[in-house]
Amino acid sequence: MKILVLNGPNLNMLGIREPEIYGNNTYPDLVRMIEDHCKKINVDVEVKQSNYEGELVTLIQKAYFYGVQGIVINPAAYTHTSIALLDALKAVNIPTVEVHISDVSKREDFRQISYVSKVAVKRIIGEGFDGYINAINYLVENYGQD
Ligand code: DQA
Repeated sequence: MKILVLNGPNLNMLGIREPEIYGNNTYPDLVRMIEDHCKKINVDVEVKQSNYEGELVTLIQKAYFYGVQGIVINPAAYTHTSIALLDALKAVNIPTVEVHISDVSKREDFRQISYVSKVAVKRIIGEGFDGYINAINYLVENYGQD
């Protein structure tokens, strides 16, 4: 199975940004963890991060043309603002799991809106980095070929 893991703005700062919320592990740690897991379960994964909304839209569009079968997305702050990301995900119609490292349901009011959740087949919040692994497993179990 071909999976794209997409991370939005400031997630490249993991390990540096607000460690009391996001932990001490770094973005390269996250990428390594995802790649190691996917190797074990024979999933063809690409892990991308961008601080730019339009770049994230382009990466979602490219996923369609590359035959990606599942998307794991942590849109970060764009979760709460971006109709463009919602439209891109609707356009490609690829099963998408929304992941948040922190438990956004227990945070500020402005984090309670998620446009992406309107199209996501599943939402995983507050499980730290494990949330990405659980999202990948969910896609494999529910949308993998065999
Ligand atoms: C986040 C939660 C968002 O509200 C925030 O803007 C982020 C990270 C998370 O993973 O918990 O950048 O998506």
